[in-house]
Amino acid sequence: MSGITVLAVVSEIYPLIKTGGLADVAGALAGALAAEGVAVVTLVPGYPAVMNKINAAEAVLAAPHLFGGKARVLRAKVAGLDLFVLDAPHLFARPGGPYAGPDGRDWPDNPFRFAALCQIAARLARGECPRFRPDVVHGHDWQAGLTAAYLTYDGRPRPATVITIHNLAFQGQCPAALLAPLGLPPRAFDVEGVEYYGTIGFLKAALALSDKITTVSPAYAAEIRTPEHGMGLDGLLRARSDSLTGILNGIDDAVWNPREDAWLAAPYSIQTRQKRSQNKPALQKHFGLTVERDALLFGVVSRLAWQKGIDLILANLERIEKIGGQLAVLGSGDPPFEEAFRVAAKARPGRVAVMTGYDERTAHMIQAGADALLIPSRFEPCGLTQLCAMRYGAVPVAARVGGLMDTIIDANEMAVAAKLGTGIHFSPTTRNGLGAAIERTRKLWDTPKVFDRIRANGMKTDVSWRGPAAAYARLFRELTPAAR
Ligand code: ADP
Ligand code: GLC
Repeated sequence: MSGITVLAVVSEIYPLIKTGGLADVAGALAGALAAEGVAVVTLVPGYPAVMNKINAAEAVLAAPHLFGGKARVLRAKVAGLDLFVLDAPHLFARPGGPYAGPDGRDWPDNPFRFAALCQIAARLARGECPRFRPDVVHGHDWQAGLTAAYLTYDGRPRPATVITIHNLAFQGQCPAALLAPLGLPPRAFDVEGVEYYGTIGFLKAALALSDKITTVSPAYAAEIRTPEHGMGLDGLLRARSDSLTGILNGIDDAVWNPREDAWLAAPYSIQTRQKRSQNKPALQKHFGLTVERDALLFGVVSRLAWQKGIDLILANLERIEKIGGQLAVLGSGDPPFEEAFRVAAKARPGRVAVMTGYDERTAHMIQAGADALLIPSRFEPCGLTQLCAMRYGAVPVAARVGGLMDTIIDANEMAVAAKLGTGIHFSPTTRNGLGAAIERTRKLWDTPKVFDRIRANGMKTDVSWRGPAAAYARLFRELTPAAR
């Protein structure tokens, strides 16, 4: 088996810039693929957060006229990642996150910002950078979507292309009038190409034009072929069924390792998990909750968004209190949700607490200190927090959707009898569905031996990237017959 080279194209990458799981995946998968004989070089935008972390770089490609400004591509090693960085100050040297300014509003020129990323990806894919010729181009989400289009309409030979869907809710659409300004030929505006309900669809283009499509769990791969979850793309996804697979995410087990986690009051392993209990009072203090060993402590680590069923948690605060529970929430996102949790925390001092903002240390403390983690998602392509929870021994209480379905074994009576459960599932994702799951958690918690078994089963589960990386490597090899 000879090694193969992959050009990954992504709009965020941990630990340089992150808004969600996409960044975790882009960062950790590259490392895990190296062990499979797949060398990944990742093209990312040169946001300030990325540019500031580059120590030494080599300019490898010039783009003197890239959508209204001068740009270049730097090759750099940063935080163990092998990167191509698109240094285009007129597009990326801005405050705020990767997609929006400090006021939270998306940049109006996002179509051009990410089309620029894709144009450069296409040039790198065709071998325009000396000593770099990828076998496969692996795009992530809509921001990488036009790569396949630029490669297709150019007509020259190209490497194989794969697009991974991390979230079908974000599709990247812009008006048809931008076709020529984006550098696409008239014939691209076709149902078989970039046209999407009369607009240009970045993700749609990738789904129509890439050799293979993957998404981040087998269950989501099935769900997105139905009108209920297909978000307008289910017809195309059904038509491309033969090219669509689901490969689960993993987590970076070096970043998430309870045995060597410097952020924890008491690090522990599965064998020494009785030490885990010392992390609960530490978490309660960190959040200003009453320090009570016998309170069933629920944690939340989440973007505060409709997708995540945050409103259902807010609607169940009374139920949590009624069963003697507590709630520690770490999240950021929609301002009304942030505000609602602040109000709730004031009304229920010592029982409900919230920290808004992005804070990795607190995320680790919750996974190590909470008894259970609430994940009432309305849809969930994969989800990473349930994997972190299992590794850290917090029992996930999760909606039975998408990747949550594939990664958690519900501790129902049969599973408990067979000593198999790793968490709690509920369906439908409604206020009462979650409420009943909270009550079930309490019942299981009342039998400490059973609850500890569920915890231990979770900690034993392999949630690493090893299996998933091998699956990606197989897919890439299938597409590169010469490298097989
Ligand atoms: P999504 O990508 O849909 O937001 P995932 O579960 O796939 O959901 O990934 C979320 C990632 O972001 C996890 O690594 C989680 O620990 C992290 N995370 C979410 N919210 C916060 C926060 N407020 N502070 C720190 N980490 C967070
Ligand atoms: C998206 C999804 C999440 C998934 C992550 C990484 O943000 O919402 O379920 O885990 O991408 O693939």
